[in-house]
Amino acid sequence: MTEPHAALDNLLTENRTFPPSEEFAAQANATAELYDRANADREAFWAEQAGRLSWAGGWDQVLDWSKAPFARWFVGGKLNVAYNCVDRHVESGHGDQVAIHWEGEPGDSRAITYAELQREVSRAANALTELGVGAEDRVAIYMPMVPEAIFSMLACARLGALHSVVFGGFSAEALRTRIEDSRAKLVITTDGQYRRGKPAPLKPAVDEAVAKAGSVEHVLVVKRTDTEVEWTEGRDVWWHDVVDRQSDRHTPEAFDAEHPLFILYTSGTTGRPKGILHTSGGYLVQSSYTHHAVFDLKPDTDVYWCTADIGWVTGHTYIVYGPLSNRVTQVVYEGTPNTPHEGRHWEIIQKYGVSIYYTAPTLIRTFMKWGADIPAKYDLSSLRVLGSVGEPINPEAWIWYRENIGAGTTPVVDTWWQTETGSIMISPLPGATSTKPGSAQRPLPGISAKVVDDQGVEVAKGGGGYLVLDEPWPSMLRGIWGDEERYRDTYWSRFGEQGFYFAGDGAKYDADGDIWLLGRVDDVMNVSGHRISTTEVESALVSHPTVAEAAVVGATDATTGQGIVAFVILRGGVAEGSDGAEAIKALREHVAKEIGPIAKPRQIMVVPELPKTRSGKIMRRLLRDVAENRQIGDVTTLADSSVMDLISSGLKSGA
Ligand code: WTA
Repeated sequence: MTEPHAALDNLLTENRTFPPSEEFAAQANATAELYDRANADREAFWAEQAGRLSWAGGWDQVLDWSKAPFARWFVGGKLNVAYNCVDRHVESGHGDQVAIHWEGEPGDSRAITYAELQREVSRAANALTELGVGAEDRVAIYMPMVPEAIFSMLACARLGALHSVVFGGFSAEALRTRIEDSRAKLVITTDGQYRRGKPAPLKPAVDEAVAKAGSVEHVLVVKRTDTEVEWTEGRDVWWHDVVDRQSDRHTPEAFDAEHPLFILYTSGTTGRPKGILHTSGGYLVQSSYTHHAVFDLKPDTDVYWCTADIGWVTGHTYIVYGPLSNRVTQVVYEGTPNTPHEGRHWEIIQKYGVSIYYTAPTLIRTFMKWGADIPAKYDLSSLRVLGSVGEPINPEAWIWYRENIGAGTTPVVDTWWQTETGSIMISPLPGATSTKPGSAQRPLPGISAKVVDDQGVEVAKGGGGYLVLDEPWPSMLRGIWGDEERYRDTYWSRFGEQGFYFAGDGAKYDADGDIWLLGRVDDVMNVSGHRISTTEVESALVSHPTVAEAAVVGATDATTGQGIVAFVILRGGVAEGSDGAEAIKALREHVAKEIGPIAKPRQIMVVPELPKTRSGKIMRRLLRDVAENRQIGDVTTLADSSVMDLISSGLKSGA
């Protein structure tokens, strides 16, 4: 395990604080009193939060932790997740409220009310039934940010089928392994997707993945770009043929609170992605509560926008389940932030009067680079809460965000959580917390987290170590799909004696006891807020015929947080120099093909040797020193201490 990143230490010299305005505090959904209530009786607190939902049958126990680390929440309760996100809002008289202001990249748009959403989701559910999908079946969703992606997720939830959304930027190969692991029966996709103003094909990747993955019976295709596609008769069906002719009525069935809701694959420390499993009741309770408390959502007046893609957990919890369960009116945007110009996000905020905006530090830093004069041209006065997620936010970006996007007045909530936690765990409450740039601060009411040392003992104020979650929480993962052992090993063995969940993040307490997240302490990189494992990229590299060995590290990057830097030993016969440049280009393409363009190394260095310990373990710490142009650290544990000289001198002469 590596040490939390030393460069992040300077975060802790930050001492500015920003209390909420009196006006904001007076109208806030969540007040400081919530902490006391949750501390007094955690289970009673969660029982109260469960009252946010409509249950078809009440539970008789809030939490069953007797089979830890496998939790059951709201035991015996029954509900339909899609009913809670759609139908009940229509039934309560809000059918005409816009649920989704959808904005396409080329400028087309569509306003979808809750009544329409109910019809669309019902039709999709009827179509999925016709295609043979039933409760507990798995459906892979590989789509851009079109409304049908959200209809599809909700249709699965309605039927009790599990969706497994695969980010549209992943390769055919990555899609295939995910389809195979979950044994998906149906894949939902589009003909193509818009990327930076141009249509790019998407279905060919599905064709390639499905040809090798045996479980798929049908591919349901939404026409988005009108790109010509190959067609397998009997297997492939068009959305407009099959879904549009269905009845727009569908009666939702209530499922057990612990009925599985979805699988979402995320990178771990091995090459094989983990299928994180979430279930229904607890997940929806915490998604709904956190969205209400952290973003202060007022369903009658707010316009909310989370810029994530549904391919990631943020899109699941803070575009689909949390917001819709709270009867949100939200913006969903299909495209990239600089298509057709760098003011696109601010233009959208102005157009719809967005009041709550939730994005990632990597994007904030990109906006900083583009210049404050761009947002200054738009009317952003509707904004009242700003959120950040995905990686530590540096104080400079935090301040820039508040000053230039939030007019120097809006609260900024830095929200820490993971695919595994299902929803936000550590975050300020915008009406109650004096925020500190760069710190996620305190576990939310109802949540418990600690910073502990190597032995699992909580560190004192000012001390650093590992972040653990020491109490179960409703939206916690219920396991890794098909791999109970890996679930125990990955999360519950590091501090097994104490029964703590090990998050994989380094953290510190400041003098006030507030938590500062310091980045991953395992072999997972965080590139533009996306989790990518070093081993996954290494496996992709060594699967190329020219590569003998590879080691990958995440190096600090001013925009993307971390950048992927690979060190490769080429096989004999592949010369360096001019041929080296060709070889490197081919390797970057190869990684894109194996995993996806997001995993392309920023830099590949051809080296004669890799630094290894006597037991053969690659010392990534030393490679990170090279990648970040630092003085190389202690080499005494290397089997051959001259290796680092060889690497450094080779790189200098090669440069
Ligand atoms: C990192 C994304 C610091 C962290 C929701 C975590 C953060 C990983 C923050 C999970 C934050 C997320 N401050 N680090 N506010 N939010 N992270 O599963 O390293 O894609 O373990 O979930 O992102 O990434 P994931």
